[in-house]
Amino acid sequence: MKDDDIERPSAMKIRQSIQDAMTSSLPDKKFSEENIDLVELDIQLDNLDWNFHNFRILNLTDIHLGQWINPEYLDELVDYVNTLNVDIITLTGDYFSYVMEGYEESLKNSFKKLKAAYGKFGVLGNHDHWMNASKIREIFKASDIVDLSNDVYTFEKDGEFLNLAGVDSCTVCADNLDEVLVKLRKNTPSILLAHEPDFAKESSQTKRFDLQISGHSHGGQFIIPKFETTPFRGPNSTKYPVGLYKVGDMIQYTSKGLGTNSFRIRINCKPEITIITLKTKNKQRIEIE
Ligand SMILES: [Fe+2]
Repeated sequence: MKDDDIERPSAMKIRQSIQDAMTSSLPDKKFSEENIDLVELDIQLDNLDWNFHNFRILNLTDIHLGQWINPEYLDELVDYVNTLNVDIITLTGDYFSYVMEGYEESLKNSFKKLKAAYGKFGVLGNHDHWMNASKIREIFKASDIVDLSNDVYTFEKDGEFLNLAGVDSCTVCADNLDEVLVKLRKNTPSILLAHEPDFAKESSQTKRFDLQISGHSHGGQFIIPKFETTPFRGPNSTKYPVGLYKVGDMIQYTSKGLGTNSFRIRINCKPEITIITLKTKNKQRIEIE
């Protein structure tokens, strides 16, 4: 798909300026661990091999740099993430909102600093396509982030395997699940990164994925206490807007994300860093001497 084929919202810089004006009186957001919701989940996968039991995935999503999150905030957040010692870091899109100019170097420098034992992997969101998908892919490359847009990376540990796949943004029709399915190692537990959570409806029907990880919704930026869901649901996040879901045989997890978009406010909906620890359902492996 060519960049020119993407349908973009009109006057994006004007939108940004209006938001800047509306929120100019709000204090600058500063990073602090206490203001982050560190969500830690254990997820059991069928047929996960023992070599991947306790494999830790840290997901960051919807940074929307230049809105709520400024470069200093992101840099401190990355320092914090690097203390969490995970196996891989995944990124599920929307790195910018309506402008990139002045923020590209900051994103690149922060992404370069991110550290994980088995690597960093990302897909793009709708805003990334509206801005400039090629530039985001250049930032990925410069930061050693594997671009999983309609692609698959297979981990191997002592002859045991785990697929990590990704689809490009379905909001801009850049997704190509068929291409992913062809590349997916067969009879192997598989995790899919998809920016838009409602893509789970389509991905689950293939019965090839055990878990999908998404963002996009920002948790609606408002979560109803006790119900732990949100009434504010945009396109492609109406069905699975926040948290854990079972979609067919697949588990869907939707993060509340880090940044904000139209309104720079979050109510009962802290910025989120997610750590998913994979667990095997296989019975205990007993070594026979
Ligand atoms: Fe999005």
